[in-house]
Amino acid sequence: MTDEQWPSDLGPVVCVVGARPNFMKMAPILRAFGAHRPALPTLLLHTGQHYDKDMNDRLFADLRLPRPDINLEVGSATHAVQTAEVMKRFEPVLDSQRPSCVLVVGDVNSTLACALVCAKKDVPVVHVEAGLRSHDRAMPEEINRVLTDQIADRLYTTERSALANLTREGVAEERVCFVGNVMIDSLLANREFAQAPAKTLQIAGGDPAVIDDASGYGVVTLHRPSNVDRSDTLQALLAVLREVSDGLPLVFAMHPRTRANIERFGLGELLRSPRIVLLPPQGYLEMLGLLASAKLVLSDSGGLQEESTALGVPCLTIRENTERPITIEQGTNTLVGADPQAIRRGVDEILSGAGKSGRIPEFWDGRAAERIAADLSAWLLARHAQRVG
Ligand code: UD1
Repeated sequence: MTDEQWPSDLGPVVCVVGARPNFMKMAPILRAFGAHRPALPTLLLHTGQHYDKDMNDRLFADLRLPRPDINLEVGSATHAVQTAEVMKRFEPVLDSQRPSCVLVVGDVNSTLACALVCAKKDVPVVHVEAGLRSHDRAMPEEINRVLTDQIADRLYTTERSALANLTREGVAEERVCFVGNVMIDSLLANREFAQAPAKTLQIAGGDPAVIDDASGYGVVTLHRPSNVDRSDTLQALLAVLREVSDGLPLVFAMHPRTRANIERFGLGELLRSPRIVLLPPQGYLEMLGLLASAKLVLSDSGGLQEESTALGVPCLTIRENTERPITIEQGTNTLVGADPQAIRRGVDEILSGAGKSGRIPEFWDGRAAERIAADLSAWLLARHAQRVG
C-alpha cells in the first residue's frame, strides 16, 4: 500500500478556507492528507473573506498553513454580496482545476458559497464539521450549515448528536462518518508552542501585572451580530463585563466588528478600567496560551466552546443556544445568554469553585484529520474505480 500512487487522472482535493475559524480546522487536514499513503493531492483556496493581518496572516503563520495556491480576495461586504462574489470567482476555478472533490469546513459564508457552486457543476462536496445545529435560523451560520449539509456528498461529524440532526433532514446515513474534532487536532498539536499570557500582554502593550493577580483572569471574546450590532444589547453586556472585572481581571481580545460598534455607539468608556485589558484579535498561539491558563472564558464564539472543553476551563457562552451540545453535556460549557444576571451568577459559581471541569468527548484525541484522510481517500478511489471501470 505504501508505494501506491494517486491515479493521475483523479484531480486534487480543493480545500477551501475563508474566515478565521476555518484555518485551525484546515491545518491538520492538509497535514494528514500529505502524510496519508497514497498522499492526497491538495490545492488550498482562500476566498479572502478574512484578510486583516490580525484575522488572517498571524493565524496562517502560527498554524504553519502553506500559502494559499489561489486567493479569491473577496473581502467584506453584505452577506448577499460576499456570498455572490465567492460564487462568481470560484466557478472558473472548478473549470480550470477539475478537482476530485471540494472540501469545505465549518459554517461561514465561504463554506456555503463554494458548496453551492459545486452542486451546480456536479463536483462532489465534502463537509467537515457537518450536522451541528443551533436550531436558530436567525443565525447566519445555521443557514450555512443546513444548506451545506444538504449539498454535501460526504459528511464528517465532530460529535455523535450530529447524525440525528442530519437524518432528520433527510441526509442518508451512509454519507455520514463520525471522525471527531479537527479543531482539537490543532489544539493538541500546538499546545506545547502556546505563548505565555504575560508575554502576550506585554507584546500587545497591555500591563502583564493585571493578570498576575493571585485570583487569575478571565478571557473575553464577543462578535456575534446578535450581541454586538445593537447599541442596547452591547451596552448591557459591556456593563456586566465591567462589573465582573471588579472580582476577576479580564483580557478582552476584540473582533474588528465589535471594536467598530463600540466606537460607533460611543461605549468605549465602559471598558476603560485597569482591570480590563483590551487586545486586538490574537494569533492562535497567543489565544491558546491565554485560554489554557484562564480561570474562565466568557464568549459567544463557536470554537472557544470546544477549545475550553478540551482544556478543562469553564466557559460561559453568551448565547441562548449552541450547535455544540456535547460541550454542555460532557464539557465545561454553560449557556448564559445575554442576561446580565445569569452572567453574574455563572461567574460567581466558577469563582467559588463550583465551575464545570468536564471530560474530553469521544474522538477529540488529535487524530480526527487522520480518520478523514483514510476515509476520504478510500471513498474517492472507490468512486474513481467505479467510473473508469
Ligand atoms: C465570520 C463568520 C462567523 C465566524 C467569524 C469569526 C459568517 C457568516 N460569519 O464572521 O461565523 O465566527 O467570521 O471571526 O461567515 N473585518 C475586518 N477584517 C477582516 C475581516 C472582517 O475588519 O479581516 C470586519 C469588517 O468590518 C467586516 C466585519 O468584520 O464587515 C465582519 O466580517 P465578516 O467576514 O462578514 O463576518 P464575521 O463577523 O467576521
